[in-house]
Amino acid sequence: MLKVDNLNVVFGHGADKNHAVKEVSFLVNRGESFGLVGESGSGKSTVLNCISGLLSNWYGSIEVDGAPLSHKRPISFYHKVQMVFQDPYGSLHPRHTIDATLKEPIAIHKLGDANQRVERVLSEVGLGPQFRFRYPHQLSGGQRQRVAVARALILEPEIVLLDEPTSALDVSIQAEVLNLLQEIRRERSLTYVLVSHDLAVVSHMCDTISVMNQGETVEIINREQLQTGELKESYTRQLLVASRGYDRQAIDQFQDF
Ligand SMILES: Nc1ncnc2c1ncn2[C@@H]1O[C@H](COP(=O)(O)OP(=O)(O)O)[C@@H](O)[C@H]1O
Ligand SMILES: [Mg+2]
Repeated sequence: MLKVDNLNVVFGHGADKNHAVKEVSFLVNRGESFGLVGESGSGKSTVLNCISGLLSNWYGSIEVDGAPLSHKRPISFYHKVQMVFQDPYGSLHPRHTIDATLKEPIAIHKLGDANQRVERVLSEVGLGPQFRFRYPHQLSGGQRQRVAVARALILEPEIVLLDEPTSALDVSIQAEVLNLLQEIRRERSLTYVLVSHDLAVVSHMCDTISVMNQGETVEIINREQLQTGELKESYTRQLLVASRGYDRQAIDQFQDF
C-alpha cells in the first residue's frame, strides 16, 4: 500500500544545514498498522509530512498503491491519504462549528449527502449528534481529537497518517482514543502509519515498527520481537527500557547514540 524508498530531507543551507531524514525506507502492507518511533527530533513528523504532501523538499521515492508520488499532489490523492495531527487544539478552526469543520472537505471534494456523512462519521468516533453544532472550545481534548479523526475519515481514505495522535491527551484518555483508532482500522480495513515517541503506544497499536534516531532508521522490528526482547540494536533496547517508566538504575546505564 505504501513504499518509501531512500527518502531524504535536508533543511537549511551552509552552516544551518540539517539532514533531518537520511535514506529512510520501509514498506507498509494494505491493512497493516505501521509504527515510526524515536525520540523528539528524530525525523518522524518530517517523514509523515513528505508522504502527506505537506513538505516538498524531499528526494527518494514514495509510492502509494503502486503509483509513485510527485512533489505536488492532485486533489484525488486526499481521497486515499489523510492525516491526523498531534494537537487537536491547533488543528481545528476555533470559530467553526464541528459541523462546518466536517463539511469543508465534503464541499472541496464536491461530495453529496453532507448531513448524513457528518452524522455517520460523528457516531463512528463515538460522538452523538449533539456535538455537531458545538465549537472546539466546548469540547474536551479527547473529544476534539475524535473530531480530528472524523475529519480525516470523512473522505473515506485508505491510508491514515497519525502524528502523535494521543500525545497531547491525559493518559486515561489516550487509551480510549487508541482503542477507538484500532476499532476504526479494523472496521474500515484501513492502513495506518502511526508516529509516536512512545514505544508503549506503537507496540500496542502496530504490527511492524521502524525505530528512528537522528533521521536514520535504526532497525525495523515486529511486535513479537518487542515482546521477547529479541532486538538487534542496543538503541532499541534502551528505548524499550525507557518506555517501561522511570528506573534510576537503568537510566544511569543509558548511552548516547
Ligand atoms: N519545517 C522545518 N524547517 C526546518 N527544520 C525542520 C522543519 N521541520 C523539522 N525540522 C527539523 O528536522 C528535524 C526532525 O524534526 P521532526 O521530523 O519534527 O522530528 P520528530 O517528529 O521525530 O520529533 C529536527 O531537527 C527539526 O528541528
Ligand atoms: Mg513530531
